Amino acid sequence: MRILKSSFAVVERRAEHAVKYFYTHLFWHNPDIRALFPAEPRDMERQRDRLFAALTHVIAHIDDEELVPYLRDLGRDHRKFLAGPEHYDAVGASLLAALAEAGGSAWTPLVEKAWSEAYRAIADVMLAGAAASQDPPWWDAEVVRHLRYGADIGVLTLRPHLPLPYLPGQYVSVSSARVPTTWRTYSLANAPRADHTLDLHVSRIEGGRLSTALVRDVVPGEVVRLGAAGGRVTLRAADRPATFIAAGTGWAPVRAMLEELMARARPPEHDVRLFVVARDGAHLYDRPLIDARAARHRWLAVTYITPAPGRPRIEATARLATALGNRGLWPDQDVYLSGPPQFVTETAALLADLGATPGRILHDAVPAVSGPGHERPIGFGEWFLNRPDPHWHDPGGRAPLR
Ligand SMILES: Cc1cc2nc3c(=O)[nH]c(=O)nc-3n(C[C@H](O)[C@H](O)[C@H](O)COP(=O)(O)OP(=O)(O)OC[C@H]3O[C@@H](n4cnc5c(N)ncnc54)[C@H](O)[C@@H]3O)c2cc1C
Ligand code: HEM
Repeated sequence: MRILKSSFAVVERRAEHAVKYFYTHLFWHNPDIRALFPAEPRDMERQRDRLFAALTHVIAHIDDEELVPYLRDLGRDHRKFLAGPEHYDAVGASLLAALAEAGGSAWTPLVEKAWSEAYRAIADVMLAGAAASQDPPWWDAEVVRHLRYGADIGVLTLRPHLPLPYLPGQYVSVSSARVPTTWRTYSLANAPRADHTLDLHVSRIEGGRLSTALVRDVVPGEVVRLGAAGGRVTLRAADRPATFIAAGTGWAPVRAMLEELMARARPPEHDVRLFVVARDGAHLYDRPLIDARAARHRWLAVTYITPAPGRPRIEATARLATALGNRGLWPDQDVYLSGPPQFVTETAALLADLGATPGRILHDAVPAVSGPGHERPIGFGEWFLNRPDPHWHDPGGRAPLR
């Protein structure tokens, strides 16, 4: 084990070189594999970081007990990338070649043997997870409705060809034939329905590949692909007060969790407060529905936060800080936080300052590095690389999903 960790440190120092070498080697020796990866150079750059970082990271953490369930799910989910057993051998060979190249004189036969065995063990667990899975490799889902709110928000209703199991608060990866081999995660915006349809709320990112296609181009009748549901931010015990804070389409998973609360036979024992943050009134696209639900369920109180017309966005941030300060009771509450990565990071820090209990501030993982080129929140598979503290349990007594 120590041999893996010490040689990992050497590789890490020359990671950029190793990553380039890895992909060049992989695609040169296996030209067919190229088609499984995103075609866009920009996406490939990102992919270089993600796949290689994951490979080296899991190998260096091979003694972590949470690794096995994670790898089984990762293997199950890799079926949607069309990754078969033969590809695992090819990836392993290129990984070892890249490490030998980057490791220089530190790459001894002993080190090579340790990495080779570790890779084999990981690939075997992923392949076993893939083989044992009862789930389809992906769910084809027909777009049955597409609502547009302004230029940049689309609400898609999808009907999967088979029921897709999930808990409110979770997300799925989505891919469209309009942008082949590109998968991005979107939250499911409704509690499970009898007809198994699912809603996604998509906010178009300027220059964003999949979000632009989903908001502007995708039409009813066409089919998108969905991966298995993931994510640990789901409803916790009902015996504590709860606050939901949603910004932009971060409202989607909050809507699903509130629907679950509303469907319960008994109303929550404590009050539930919802803060909805939007960059302007037009982005409060679900306000009529939120108002109607708040009128029906007296335990739900809603505060909308938007900057006044013509005022800078920073004003909304200050108003949110004041509103959260007034809410009080933070140590006792579960706080569900959802929105763009920067919003989540800043609001989580604010809540910690207000005295919220760290393990009860619940949000999906956000990227470790921020700044140009790193704005994208991390995906489902990368959860392991940037794992939030374990905090999740399921109030309904169902087994934790992951
Ligand atoms: C757990 C999770 C749940 C998510 N749920 C939703 C959801 O319900 N609705 C939704 O609309 N999106 C959601 N996202 C974001 C979504 O997965 C995509 O990242 C987003 O749609 C952009 O993808 P793209 O292909 O359009 O952009 P890309 O082509 O990947 O990116 C284009 C450029 O925009 C930058 N960029 C990408 N995303 C963002 C961002 N969010 N903010 C600022 N800059 C960015 C990139 O760095 C890149 O420079 C979620 C993400 C995660 C991790
Ligand atoms: C031990 C082996 C492997 C590990 C640990 C691993 C890990 C990962 C991780 C963590 C991601 C990011 C996933 C996400 O964001 O959802 C990823 C993506 C991906 N992997 Fe793997 N992988 C392995 C083997 C393979 C193999 C054999 C293939 C087949 C060629 C493959 C193809 C892909 C593709 C196509 C993507 C998606 C690219 C994208 O979304 O940009 N991987 N992998």
